[in-house]
Amino acid sequence: MVKEKKDFSITPYEVGGQVDYSKLIKEFGVSKLDSRTLERIKKQTGELHVFLRRGIFFAHRDLNWLLDEYDAGNKFFLYTGRAPSKGSRVHLGHLIPWIMCQWLQEKFDVDMWFQFPDEEKFLYKPDITLEDTEQATYEDMLDVIALGFRPEKTKFLIDTKHAGIMYKEACKVAKKITFSMVKSSFGFNESNNVGSIFYTAMQAVPAFLPSVIKKKNIPCLIPLGIDQDPHFRISRDVMPKLGYYKPAIMHNVFLPPLTGIGGKMAASSGSETAIYTTDTPEEVKKKINKYAFSGGQATIEEHRKKGGNPDIDVSFQYLKMFFEPDDNKLQKIHDDYKSGKLLTGELKAILIEKINKFLSEHQKKREQAKKMIDKFVLKN
Ligand code: TYM
Repeated sequence: MVKEKKDFSITPYEVGGQVDYSKLIKEFGVSKLDSRTLERIKKQTGELHVFLRRGIFFAHRDLNWLLDEYDAGNKFFLYTGRAPSKGSRVHLGHLIPWIMCQWLQEKFDVDMWFQFPDEEKFLYKPDITLEDTEQATYEDMLDVIALGFRPEKTKFLIDTKHAGIMYKEACKVAKKITFSMVKSSFGFNESNNVGSIFYTAMQAVPAFLPSVIKKKNIPCLIPLGIDQDPHFRISRDVMPKLGYYKPAIMHNVFLPPLTGIGGKMAASSGSETAIYTTDTPEEVKKKINKYAFSGGQATIEEHRKKGGNPDIDVSFQYLKMFFEPDDNKLQKIHDDYKSGKLLTGELKAILIEKINKFLSEHQKKREQAKKMIDKFVLKN
Protein backbone atom coordinates (compact mmCIF):
# COMPACT_ATOMS: atom_id res chain seq x y z
CA MET A 1 0.00 0.00 0.00
CA VAL A 2 1.32 3.44 -0.85
CA LYS A 3 1.37 5.66 2.20
CA GLU A 4 -0.11 9.09 1.55
CA LYS A 5 2.47 11.83 1.93
CA LYS A 6 1.51 14.25 4.70
CA ASP A 7 1.84 17.86 3.65
CA PHE A 8 0.78 19.33 6.98
CA SER A 9 0.78 18.38 10.63
CA ILE A 10 -1.21 19.61 13.59
CA THR A 11 -0.68 19.08 17.29
CA PRO A 12 -1.41 21.50 20.14
CA TYR A 13 2.29 22.34 20.05
CA GLU A 14 2.98 22.71 16.36
CA VAL A 15 1.05 23.56 13.24
CA GLY A 16 3.09 23.07 10.10
CA GLY A 17 2.45 23.19 6.35
CA GLN A 18 -0.67 24.08 4.39
CA VAL A 19 -3.62 22.80 6.37
CA ASP A 20 -6.19 20.86 4.36
CA TYR A 21 -9.32 20.93 6.50
CA SER A 22 -11.18 18.24 4.57
CA LYS A 23 -8.28 15.84 5.05
CA LEU A 24 -8.12 16.85 8.69
CA ILE A 25 -11.73 15.82 9.26
CA LYS A 26 -10.81 12.29 8.16
CA GLU A 27 -7.48 12.19 9.93
CA PHE A 28 -8.85 13.39 13.29
CA GLY A 29 -12.08 11.39 12.96
CA VAL A 30 -14.30 14.42 13.58
CA SER A 31 -17.62 15.14 11.84
CA LYS A 32 -18.22 17.92 9.34
CA LEU A 33 -20.47 20.62 10.77
CA ASP A 34 -23.22 20.24 8.16
CA SER A 35 -26.34 22.23 7.34
CA ARG A 36 -28.59 19.84 9.27
CA THR A 37 -26.76 20.45 12.53
CA LEU A 38 -26.53 24.19 11.83
CA GLU A 39 -30.31 24.24 11.32
CA ARG A 40 -30.74 22.60 14.71
CA ILE A 41 -28.66 25.36 16.30
CA LYS A 42 -30.62 28.01 14.42
CA LYS A 43 -33.87 26.55 15.70
CA GLN A 44 -32.72 27.42 19.21
CA THR A 45 -30.86 30.67 18.54
CA GLY A 46 -33.05 32.26 15.85
CA GLU A 47 -30.01 33.21 13.76
CA LEU A 48 -26.55 31.88 13.02
CA HIS A 49 -23.37 33.67 14.01
CA VAL A 50 -21.17 34.62 11.05
CA PHE A 51 -18.58 32.05 12.24
CA LEU A 52 -21.24 29.38 11.75
CA ARG A 53 -22.69 30.74 8.51
CA ARG A 54 -19.28 30.98 6.86
CA GLY A 55 -17.83 27.66 7.98
CA ILE A 56 -15.24 29.11 10.38
CA PHE A 57 -16.54 26.43 12.73
CA PHE A 58 -16.29 23.52 10.34
CA ALA A 59 -16.26 20.33 12.40
CA HIS A 60 -17.58 18.84 15.63
CA ARG A 61 -17.78 15.85 17.89
CA ASP A 62 -21.16 14.77 19.29
CA LEU A 63 -22.88 18.11 18.74
CA ASN A 64 -26.13 16.36 17.77
CA TRP A 65 -26.07 14.42 21.01
CA LEU A 66 -25.61 17.71 22.91
CA LEU A 67 -28.58 19.25 21.07
CA ASP A 68 -30.70 16.14 21.79
CA GLU A 69 -29.90 16.56 25.48
CA TYR A 70 -30.74 20.26 25.27
CA ASP A 71 -34.07 19.45 23.57
CA ALA A 72 -34.78 17.04 26.40
CA GLY A 73 -34.24 19.84 28.94
CA ASN A 74 -30.68 18.89 29.91
CA LYS A 75 -28.75 22.15 29.62
CA PHE A 76 -25.02 22.14 28.87
CA PHE A 77 -22.17 24.33 30.04
CA LEU A 78 -19.44 25.80 27.85
CA TYR A 79 -15.73 25.28 28.34
CA THR A 80 -12.68 26.64 26.57
CA GLY A 81 -9.24 27.97 27.51
CA ARG A 82 -6.09 29.93 26.93
CA ALA A 83 -2.53 29.06 27.96
CA PRO A 84 -0.85 32.28 29.12
CA SER A 85 2.84 32.84 28.64
CA LYS A 86 5.31 35.66 28.55
CA GLY A 87 5.84 36.91 25.02
CA SER A 88 2.62 35.36 23.73
CA ARG A 89 0.05 38.11 23.57
CA VAL A 90 -3.54 37.46 22.58
CA HIS A 91 -4.06 37.87 18.82
CA LEU A 92 -7.16 38.03 16.63
CA GLY A 93 -7.11 34.27 15.98
CA HIS A 94 -7.43 33.43 19.68
CA LEU A 95 -10.62 35.46 19.84
CA ILE A 96 -12.50 33.21 17.40
CA PRO A 97 -13.39 30.37 19.81
CA TRP A 98 -13.96 32.85 22.65
CA ILE A 99 -16.36 35.04 20.64
CA MET A 100 -18.23 31.85 19.73
CA CYS A 101 -18.47 30.93 23.41
CA GLN A 102 -19.76 34.37 24.34
CA TRP A 103 -22.43 34.19 21.63
CA LEU A 104 -23.45 30.68 22.70
CA GLN A 105 -23.60 31.81 26.34
CA GLU A 106 -26.03 34.58 25.37
CA LYS A 107 -28.15 32.49 23.05
CA PHE A 108 -28.44 29.38 25.21
CA ASP A 109 -28.18 31.20 28.56
CA VAL A 110 -25.58 28.76 29.88
CA ASP A 111 -22.59 28.74 32.23
CA MET A 112 -19.09 29.25 30.88
CA TRP A 113 -15.94 27.74 32.39
CA PHE A 114 -12.71 29.26 31.13
CA GLN A 115 -9.39 27.58 31.94
CA PHE A 116 -6.07 29.45 32.15
CA PRO A 117 -3.53 26.60 32.40
CA ASP A 118 -0.73 28.78 33.70
CA GLU A 119 1.63 25.80 33.94
CA GLU A 120 1.22 24.64 30.32
CA LYS A 121 3.59 26.97 28.45
CA PHE A 122 5.95 26.92 31.45
CA LEU A 123 6.26 23.16 31.00
CA TYR A 124 6.70 23.23 27.23
CA LYS A 125 8.89 26.22 26.64
CA PRO A 126 12.37 27.05 27.85
CA ASP A 127 13.04 30.42 29.52
CA ILE A 128 9.59 30.93 31.03
CA THR A 129 9.07 31.29 34.76
CA LEU A 130 5.79 30.81 36.60
CA GLU A 131 6.20 34.36 37.92
CA ASP A 132 6.25 35.78 34.36
CA THR A 133 3.16 33.77 33.61
CA GLU A 134 1.20 35.46 36.37
CA GLN A 135 1.34 38.79 34.53
CA ALA A 136 0.43 37.11 31.24
CA THR A 137 -2.58 35.43 32.89
CA TYR A 138 -3.80 38.82 34.07
CA GLU A 139 -3.46 40.31 30.57
CA ASP A 140 -5.25 37.35 28.97
CA MET A 141 -8.13 37.54 31.44
CA LEU A 142 -8.72 41.15 30.36
CA ASP A 143 -9.15 40.03 26.75
CA VAL A 144 -11.64 37.34 27.71
CA ILE A 145 -13.71 39.64 29.95
CA ALA A 146 -13.69 42.34 27.25
CA LEU A 147 -15.67 40.02 24.96
CA GLY A 148 -18.73 40.42 27.16
CA PHE A 149 -19.09 37.19 29.14
CA ARG A 150 -21.60 37.40 31.94
CA PRO A 151 -19.85 37.53 35.31
CA GLU A 152 -22.61 35.71 37.16
CA LYS A 153 -22.45 32.80 34.70
CA THR A 154 -18.71 32.64 34.00
CA LYS A 155 -15.92 31.02 36.03
CA PHE A 156 -12.19 31.38 35.46
CA LEU A 157 -10.06 28.43 36.53
CA ILE A 158 -6.34 29.10 36.91
CA ASP A 159 -4.49 25.80 37.25
CA THR A 160 -1.92 26.74 39.90
CA LYS A 161 -4.50 28.72 41.90
CA HIS A 162 -7.26 26.12 41.68
CA ALA A 163 -5.01 23.07 41.92
CA GLY A 164 -6.81 22.19 45.15
CA ILE A 165 -10.00 21.26 43.36
CA MET A 166 -8.44 20.23 40.05
CA TYR A 167 -5.53 17.98 40.97
CA LYS A 168 -7.53 15.11 42.44
CA GLU A 169 -9.68 14.92 39.30
CA ALA A 170 -6.60 15.23 37.05
CA CYS A 171 -5.04 12.23 38.80
CA LYS A 172 -8.14 10.16 38.04
CA VAL A 173 -7.80 11.07 34.36
CA ALA A 174 -4.03 10.60 34.29
CA LYS A 175 -4.30 7.08 35.68
CA LYS A 176 -6.18 6.06 32.53
CA ILE A 177 -3.77 7.66 30.03
CA THR A 178 -0.57 5.89 29.06
CA PHE A 179 2.68 7.48 27.95
CA SER A 180 2.32 5.79 24.58
CA MET A 181 -1.08 7.46 24.00
CA VAL A 182 0.43 10.86 24.78
CA LYS A 183 3.50 10.15 22.65
CA SER A 184 1.53 9.38 19.53
CA SER A 185 -0.98 12.21 19.98
CA PHE A 186 1.50 14.99 20.68
CA GLY A 187 4.62 13.71 18.92
CA PHE A 188 6.48 13.37 22.23
CA ASN A 189 9.52 11.23 22.92
CA GLU A 190 11.53 10.08 25.95
CA SER A 191 13.12 13.48 26.41
CA ASN A 192 9.87 15.34 27.07
CA ASN A 193 9.61 16.35 30.71
CA VAL A 194 7.15 14.44 32.89
CA GLY A 195 5.12 17.60 33.57
CA SER A 196 4.24 17.95 29.90
CA ILE A 197 3.25 14.29 29.74
CA PHE A 198 0.81 14.82 32.64
CA TYR A 199 -0.56 18.14 31.42
CA THR A 200 -3.31 16.78 29.15
CA ALA A 201 -5.03 15.44 32.27
CA MET A 202 -5.30 19.00 33.64
CA GLN A 203 -6.90 20.22 30.42
CA ALA A 204 -9.50 17.44 30.69
CA VAL A 205 -10.70 18.43 34.16
CA PRO A 206 -12.90 21.48 33.44
CA ALA A 207 -14.93 19.35 31.00
CA PHE A 208 -16.44 17.49 33.98
CA LEU A 209 -15.54 19.58 37.06
CA PRO A 210 -18.99 21.28 37.13
CA SER A 211 -20.50 17.77 37.22
CA VAL A 212 -18.25 16.91 40.17
CA ILE A 213 -19.21 20.11 42.00
CA LYS A 214 -22.95 19.83 41.31
CA LYS A 215 -22.89 16.07 41.91
CA LYS A 216 -24.84 15.43 38.71
CA ASN A 217 -23.88 14.79 35.12
CA ILE A 218 -23.99 17.96 33.01
CA PRO A 219 -23.27 17.95 29.26
CA CYS A 220 -20.32 20.08 28.16
CA LEU A 221 -19.61 21.90 24.87
CA ILE A 222 -16.05 22.96 24.01
CA PRO A 223 -15.49 25.42 21.15
CA LEU A 224 -11.79 25.38 20.21
CA GLY A 225 -9.23 25.70 17.44
CA ILE A 226 -8.68 22.29 15.85
CA ASP A 227 -5.07 22.17 17.14
CA GLN A 228 -6.47 21.54 20.63
CA ASP A 229 -8.49 18.49 19.57
CA PRO A 230 -5.76 15.90 20.40
CA HIS A 231 -6.08 16.68 24.13
CA PHE A 232 -9.74 15.74 24.03
CA ARG A 233 -9.31 12.86 21.63
CA ILE A 234 -7.45 11.20 24.47
CA SER A 235 -9.49 12.40 27.44
CA ARG A 236 -12.97 12.00 25.96
CA ASP A 237 -12.50 8.23 26.11
CA VAL A 238 -11.52 8.46 29.76
CA MET A 239 -14.49 10.49 30.99
CA PRO A 240 -17.18 7.79 30.65
CA LYS A 241 -14.85 5.47 32.57
CA LEU A 242 -15.04 8.00 35.43
CA GLY A 243 -18.82 8.20 35.13
CA TYR A 244 -19.10 11.46 33.15
CA TYR A 245 -20.36 12.38 29.69
CA LYS A 246 -17.90 12.80 26.85
CA PRO A 247 -17.80 16.54 26.11
CA ALA A 248 -19.08 17.71 22.72
CA ILE A 249 -16.64 19.81 20.68
CA MET A 250 -16.91 22.45 17.95
CA HIS A 251 -13.74 23.07 15.94
CA ASN A 252 -12.73 26.30 14.24
CA VAL A 253 -10.29 26.74 11.37
CA PHE A 254 -7.27 28.96 11.94
CA LEU A 255 -7.19 32.63 11.20
CA PRO A 256 -4.16 32.62 8.90
CA PRO A 257 -1.00 34.60 9.57
CA LEU A 258 -0.61 37.88 7.70
CA THR A 259 1.98 36.25 5.50
CA GLY A 260 -0.34 33.81 3.72
CA ILE A 261 -3.35 31.52 3.99
CA GLY A 262 -3.12 27.85 4.93
CA GLY A 263 -1.36 28.19 8.28
CA LYS A 264 -2.12 29.54 11.74
CA MET A 265 -1.70 33.04 13.12
CA ALA A 266 0.58 32.34 16.06
CA ALA A 267 1.79 34.66 18.78
CA SER A 268 5.17 32.98 18.84
CA SER A 269 6.09 33.44 15.18
CA GLY A 270 6.82 37.15 15.24
CA SER A 271 4.86 40.36 15.22
CA GLU A 272 4.90 40.68 11.43
CA THR A 273 2.58 37.67 11.17
CA ALA A 274 0.00 38.47 13.85
CA ILE A 275 -2.30 41.30 14.93
CA TYR A 276 -2.54 41.55 18.68
CA THR A 277 -5.51 42.85 20.64
CA THR A 278 -3.30 45.58 22.11
CA ASP A 279 -1.89 46.83 18.79
CA THR A 280 -2.28 50.56 18.09
CA PRO A 281 -4.09 51.81 14.95
CA GLU A 282 -0.71 52.73 13.45
CA GLU A 283 0.70 49.27 14.10
CA VAL A 284 -2.34 47.64 12.48
CA LYS A 285 -2.06 49.90 9.45
CA LYS A 286 1.64 49.27 9.08
CA LYS A 287 1.35 45.50 9.47
CA ILE A 288 -1.52 45.10 7.01
CA ASN A 289 0.05 47.35 4.41
CA LYS A 290 3.48 45.81 4.73
CA TYR A 291 2.84 42.13 5.43
CA ALA A 292 -0.71 41.08 4.50
CA PHE A 293 -0.25 38.68 1.60
CA SER A 294 -1.97 40.04 -1.49
CA GLY A 295 -3.85 38.21 -4.22
CA GLY A 296 -3.50 41.29 -6.42
CA GLN A 297 -1.36 41.73 -9.52
CA ALA A 298 2.11 43.25 -9.58
CA THR A 299 1.07 46.54 -11.22
CA ILE A 300 -2.12 48.62 -11.23
CA GLU A 301 -2.47 48.19 -14.99
CA GLU A 302 -2.21 44.44 -14.74
CA HIS A 303 -4.60 44.36 -11.77
CA ARG A 304 -7.21 46.39 -13.66
CA LYS A 305 -6.89 43.99 -16.59
CA LYS A 306 -6.66 40.61 -14.86
CA GLY A 307 -8.21 41.32 -11.45
CA GLY A 308 -7.16 39.92 -8.06
CA ASN A 309 -7.61 36.54 -6.42
CA PRO A 310 -9.66 36.90 -3.21
CA ASP A 311 -9.16 33.21 -2.35
CA ILE A 312 -5.49 33.69 -1.55
CA ASP A 313 -5.69 37.31 -0.42
CA VAL A 314 -5.21 37.51 3.35
CA SER A 315 -7.04 40.85 3.69
CA PHE A 316 -10.09 39.47 1.91
CA GLN A 317 -9.96 36.31 4.02
CA TYR A 318 -9.88 38.35 7.25
CA LEU A 319 -12.95 40.26 6.08
CA LYS A 320 -14.69 37.01 5.20
CA MET A 321 -13.76 35.18 8.39
CA PHE A 322 -14.18 37.95 10.91
CA PHE A 323 -14.59 41.59 9.98
CA GLU A 324 -17.37 41.92 7.36
CA PRO A 325 -20.45 40.08 8.60
CA ASP A 326 -22.71 41.65 5.94
CA ASP A 327 -22.98 39.08 3.12
CA ASN A 328 -23.93 41.63 0.46
CA LYS A 329 -21.06 43.97 1.28
CA LEU A 330 -18.63 41.06 1.31
CA GLN A 331 -19.87 39.82 -2.05
CA LYS A 332 -19.38 43.28 -3.57
CA ILE A 333 -15.83 43.52 -2.23
CA HIS A 334 -15.16 40.03 -3.61
CA ASP A 335 -16.56 40.83 -7.06
CA ASP A 336 -14.89 44.24 -7.30
CA TYR A 337 -11.53 42.78 -6.31
CA LYS A 338 -11.86 39.89 -8.72
CA SER A 339 -12.79 42.15 -11.59
CA GLY A 340 -9.90 44.52 -10.91
CA LYS A 341 -12.13 47.44 -9.96
CA LEU A 342 -10.88 47.34 -6.36
CA LEU A 343 -7.13 47.64 -5.88
CA THR A 344 -5.08 45.86 -3.23
CA GLY A 345 -4.39 49.13 -1.40
CA GLU A 346 -8.12 49.91 -1.32
CA LEU A 347 -8.98 46.44 -0.05
CA LYS A 348 -6.35 46.78 2.67
CA ALA A 349 -7.75 50.17 3.65
CA ILE A 350 -11.22 48.63 4.15
CA LEU A 351 -9.73 45.95 6.41
CA ILE A 352 -7.55 48.36 8.38
CA GLU A 353 -10.56 50.50 9.19
CA LYS A 354 -12.63 47.50 10.28
CA ILE A 355 -9.89 46.04 12.49
CA ASN A 356 -9.14 49.38 14.10
CA LYS A 357 -12.80 49.99 14.84
CA PHE A 358 -13.05 46.54 16.44
CA LEU A 359 -9.84 47.00 18.43
CA SER A 360 -10.72 50.47 19.67
CA GLU A 361 -13.93 49.06 21.22
CA HIS A 362 -12.12 45.98 22.49
CA GLN A 363 -9.36 48.03 24.10
CA LYS A 364 -11.91 50.23 25.87
CA LYS A 365 -13.64 47.16 27.29
CA ARG A 366 -10.25 45.68 28.16
CA GLU A 367 -9.55 48.72 30.34
CA GLN A 368 -12.92 48.41 32.07
CA ALA A 369 -12.22 44.70 32.64
CA LYS A 370 -9.42 45.59 35.06
CA LYS A 371 -12.01 46.28 37.73
CA MET A 372 -13.96 43.09 37.05
CA ILE A 373 -11.44 40.27 37.39
CA ASP A 374 -12.54 39.29 40.89
CA LYS A 375 -16.05 38.67 39.65
CA PHE A 376 -14.80 36.04 37.22
CA VAL A 377 -12.11 34.09 39.05
CA LEU A 378 -13.61 31.05 40.80
CA LYS A 379 -13.67 31.49 44.58
CA ASN A 380 -11.56 28.75 46.11
P1 TYM B 1 -3.83 28.68 23.19
O1 TYM B 1 -3.59 29.64 24.27
O2 TYM B 1 -2.68 28.28 22.32
O3 TYM B 1 -4.98 29.19 22.24
C1 TYM B 1 -6.25 29.57 22.72
C2 TYM B 1 -7.32 29.20 21.72
O4 TYM B 1 -7.11 29.89 20.49
C3 TYM B 1 -7.13 28.98 19.40
N1 TYM B 1 -6.26 29.54 18.35
C4 TYM B 1 -6.70 29.95 17.15
N2 TYM B 1 -7.93 29.94 16.59
C5 TYM B 1 -8.05 30.45 15.34
N3 TYM B 1 -7.01 30.96 14.64
C6 TYM B 1 -5.76 30.98 15.15
N4 TYM B 1 -4.76 31.49 14.44
C7 TYM B 1 -5.56 30.47 16.47
N5 TYM B 1 -4.48 30.36 17.28
C8 TYM B 1 -4.93 29.79 18.43
C9 TYM B 1 -6.63 27.69 20.00
O5 TYM B 1 -6.99 26.59 19.21
C10 TYM B 1 -7.33 27.71 21.36
O6 TYM B 1 -8.65 27.24 21.25
N6 TYM B 1 -3.96 24.30 25.74
C11 TYM B 1 -4.71 25.46 25.29
C12 TYM B 1 -5.43 26.18 26.43
C13 TYM B 1 -6.67 25.44 26.86
C14 TYM B 1 -7.80 25.15 26.05
C15 TYM B 1 -8.70 24.44 26.87
C16 TYM B 1 -8.11 25.45 24.71
C17 TYM B 1 -6.92 24.94 28.09
N7 TYM B 1 -8.14 24.32 28.11
C18 TYM B 1 -9.93 24.01 26.37
C19 TYM B 1 -9.33 25.00 24.20
C20 TYM B 1 -10.22 24.28 25.04
C21 TYM B 1 -3.80 26.44 24.55
O7 TYM B 1 -2.61 26.37 24.64
O8 TYM B 1 -4.50 27.36 23.81
